[in-house]
Amino acid sequence: MSKTLFQYEQNNLFFDGVDLQQTDLIKNYQKPVILYRKILIEERIQWMKSWNGLHRLHFAMKANDNSEILKILLNTGCGLDVVSIGEVEKALSVGFKAADIIFSGVGKTKSEIDKAIDLEIYQINVESISELQRISDISTKKNKSVHIGLRLNPEVDAKTHPHIATALQDSKFGISMKDISSCLEIIRKNSNLIFKSISYHLGSQIMTAEPFQNALAKIKPVFLNLQTEFKSLDRLDLGGGLGIDYKNHDMTNDEIQWQNLKTVYETELTNFPAQCLIEMGRFIVARSGILITEVQYVKKTETKEIVICDVGMNNLMRPSLYQAYHHVLPLKKNNIEKTYMIVGPICESTDFFHKDFITSEIEEGDLIAICDVGAYGRSMASNYNHQPLALEFFI
Ligand SMILES: Cc1ncc(COP(=O)(O)O)c(C=O)c1O
Repeated sequence: MSKTLFQYEQNNLFFDGVDLQQTDLIKNYQKPVILYRKILIEERIQWMKSWNGLHRLHFAMKANDNSEILKILLNTGCGLDVVSIGEVEKALSVGFKAADIIFSGVGKTKSEIDKAIDLEIYQINVESISELQRISDISTKKNKSVHIGLRLNPEVDAKTHPHIATALQDSKFGISMKDISSCLEIIRKNSNLIFKSISYHLGSQIMTAEPFQNALAKIKPVFLNLQTEFKSLDRLDLGGGLGIDYKNHDMTNDEIQWQNLKTVYETELTNFPAQCLIEMGRFIVARSGILITEVQYVKKTETKEIVICDVGMNNLMRPSLYQAYHHVLPLKKNNIEKTYMIVGPICESTDFFHKDFITSEIEEGDLIAICDVGAYGRSMASNYNHQPLALEFFI
């Protein structure tokens, strides 16, 4: 049975069954807000946990670092994937333990590594030979052991936007397969380096299971081969990257999307001699949030009608950064259809959500919802132009 996320009843927009007109925040609109539905996050966590082979789901905190959302992850027994000590500190502040945290990222500084070793972080995912040498030196100086994962670059095309593909040949992410032997030399020389994991992450917004399957075909034999020498190697970190169809709001499609990936994992990894981890971000939170904005002006040019909102790229970077599509729905619709350019207030020409968007007629003062902003929305936002950050609420 199909389940649509948005629907109109008597021309009023409902988000996951909630009548938005009836929420106080909308009745007394003051400034841009992101409205979240917790249940949409919990549901996806349950989908992922239905894979029996999953040892632990590590949420990629960069997708959304809202404390309440992190607490949902914490309370459902998930870990986190982080990319800075700043994120580690935020994670600890909401109640995660260092033992719940995978520390990824290409640019870890000496002080970040120092701190991660002191904290006894679950696993540092190493992204270069130099970083491994740095971790080795620091662990020797401290005479303290550290759990490491090698993030390999399997050179698999994730068939996504080039700006969010992370496993292409010249990618800055991960260690080239040809450099594994240099890494092993460093590991063999230092007993403080406990080689726990092989990890990879192909990119984000990946819409088919094929790239995940291709990566496993390359990584599995490497893992098994390494395991013959390194008995400590017992984790396979499969990264994140599963996408959603931003143009379609039938939630059964999302479930199928996950089921297809789960089938790959079940087929490829049943009885695989390792604990399997995933680092999903977008897929868990993207659907959970909508951004509500008030239309300030509708401006006519020779060829276009331009809807100017009170939020822009400062609150949702994705359209400007990688031409990402976010559906827009007026909170009250009518029967007149028009085509609009929909833009924000920021002083940049790239500050637009849509160039030609067909929707019901919009007037100044109307409220509109920008859909699917739960991932890489607020976490990427800035105060550019001293515009306010959207407030976040749960409904
Ligand atoms: C190392 C790593 N793991 C996981 C993720 C999560 O990706 P996604 O939000 O596409 O699931 C990212 C995102 O870029 C990442 O860099």
